[in-house]
Order: sequence, then structure tokens, then C-alpha cells
Amino acid sequence: MRRRLLPGALGAVLLLAALVAWLNVRGEAPLDAGATPPATPAVVERGAYLARAGNCAGCHSVPGGAPFAGGRRIETPFGSVVSSNLTPDPATGLGAWSAGEFWRALHHGRSRDGHLLYPAFPYPSFTRVSREDSDALYAFLKTVPPAARANEAHELRFPYSTQAALAVWRALFFRAGELEPDARQGASWNRGRYLVQGLGHCSACHAGRNALGGPAFDAEFAGGLMPDAG
Ligand code: HEC
Ligand code: HEC
Repeated sequence: MRRRLLPGALGAVLLLAALVAWLNVRGEAPLDAGATPPATPAVVERGAYLARAGNCAGCHSVPGGAPFAGGRRIETPFGSVVSSNLTPDPATGLGAWSAGEFWRALHHGRSRDGHLLYPAFPYPSFTRVSREDSDALYAFLKTVPPAARANEAHELRFPYSTQAALAVWRALFFRAGELEPDARQGASWNRGRYLVQGLGHCSACHAGRNALGGPAFDAEFAGGLMPDAG
């Protein structure tokens, strides 16, 4: 009844907001409360290798700072975004995170409390990382020395600073999903694609971007300007 009284425009805005909200959680399985996967030396070593492939330390460390403690400010056309503390410090890092919450950050771009993360964190690529590899990264990050460094606030201009704007961006440009191996190609081709389109996030820098900072799909791998580095 109330709905009918609303002016049409407001109704349309509400419908659109509901659609955007739905597009942001579509396909998301409930967080698993499953046991922490085994962190054998081999798994930790694999996680260390995967962290190098994904350049986690490159964005999550500052010169002279503790490795993986975050604090690197990434300039974008919309303002700057600061990387987070990934060390196992319980208060300021990932110490209290479960493997499922870590996976959700990589796969769905959500933080532990559920808020949406900015795609300066290349989860539009990392979403293709397998759960097994995510668990290995998680196991490795548990072994780095904890560093107490509180996350700093981003400095983004309005409206880009809002979760609503980020939700719209994600509805337009982000799809969570893993890579199915292409059966027509061999194992090394599939491995290469997994690295390039997943952890390597090559297209984060080697592709053009549209005015909203979304990927320009026709220009994937054609190169582009990194706003961060000029
Ligand atoms: C290009 C830079 C960049 C790279 C590479 C990168 N990150 Fe990040 N990451 C960020 C930024 C920036 C944020 C903060 C996003 C936000 O707060 O919205 C972030 C946030 C995160 C978060 C969420 C933390 C929280 O407190 O919510 C996790 C988990 C994470 N990154 C893990 C990783 C892992 C694992 C790797 C390597 C496989 C990695 N990141 C590589 C930039 C990067
Ligand atoms: C954080 C941004 C970034 C990411 C991610 C990135 N690159 Fe690059 N890459 C660059 C930049 C910038 C250059 C140009 C460096 C220069 O000209 O000095 C470059 C240059 C290159 C070159 C040399 C090309 C030439 O013409 O000399 C190759 C090859 C390359 N990248 C491959 C890759 C691959 C493969 C990946 C993914 C696994 C990747 N890059 C991920 C930023 C990036």
C-alpha cells in the first residue's frame, strides 16, 4: 500500500537500490565455520610462493615498515586507498580472521565485518584464486611476524567514499567466480591463465580502464596508464 503512494521516481530508485544490493551478494555462500585447514610446512611454503605471485607484500608493506603490515597509500583518480594490515596481529591485523573470512575477502571483496572493499585490492582478479590456494595464503600469513599497526582511513572524494557508490561499481564491473579449466587446452596453458587472470592480476595494470575505473574489456592486455605511478 505504502509503495503505491510513493512517487514513481522514488519507487524506481528503491528498486534499483534493491537490485544493486542483490547483485552485491548474489552467489555468495554463507561463511563456512569449517575447521582451519592444516598448515603443514609444505602448505606454508606454497602460500609464500603464492603471496609472491600475487605481490601481496608489494602493496601491503611500506619501505622501512614491517612486511605485510599495510599502510601503503594507492592513488586513484577518485582519491587514495590505504592497504590493510595482513599480519596475524589480533587487534589490527588478520589474527582474528578465519580461513573462511579470508577467502571471502579474496573471492567476494568483503572485509571481516562484511563491508565492501575497494578494488584497488585486486579482488576482481583474486576472485579466481581457488579455495585451496586461498587457504595456503592464509596459512602463510599466519606465520609472518605480527605487527601492531592500525588501518588508516582512505581519502576518497564524495561520492566515491560511500559504500553505496562502491556497491554500484561492483554491480557494474565485478563478478565473483572461479576459473574452470579449458578442456581444449593443456595443463600449462591453464596454469598460465590461472596465474595471469588470478593472482598475477596482470590486467589490473596492463589493461585500459573506463571513466569509472572499471575494466575496459576490449583492451585487456593492451596496456594502460597506472594512475598511481603516472
Ligand atoms: C595493488 C595493490 C594490492 C595487492 C597486490 C594486494 N592487495 Fe590486499 N588490499 C589492497 C588494498 C588497497 C586494500 C584495502 C581495501 C579496502 O580497505 O577497501 C587491501 C585489502 C586486503 C584485505 C582485506 C583486509 C581487511 O582488513 O579488510 C585482504 C585480506 C587482502 N588485501 C589480502 C591480500 C592478499 C592475500 C594479497 C596477495 C595475494 C593482496 N592482498 C594483494 C591492495 C592490494
Ligand atoms: C602493478 C602493476 C603491474 C602488474 C600487476 C603487472 N605489470 Fe607488467 N608492467 C607494468 C609496468 C608499469 C610495465 C612497464 C615497465 C617499464 O616500461 O619500465 C610492465 C611491463 C611488463 C613487461 C615488459 C613489456 C615490455 O614491452 O618491455 C612484461 C612482459 C610484463 N609487464 C608482464 C606482466 C605479467 C605477465 C603480469 C601478470 C603476471 C604483469 N606484467 C603484471 C605494471 C604491471
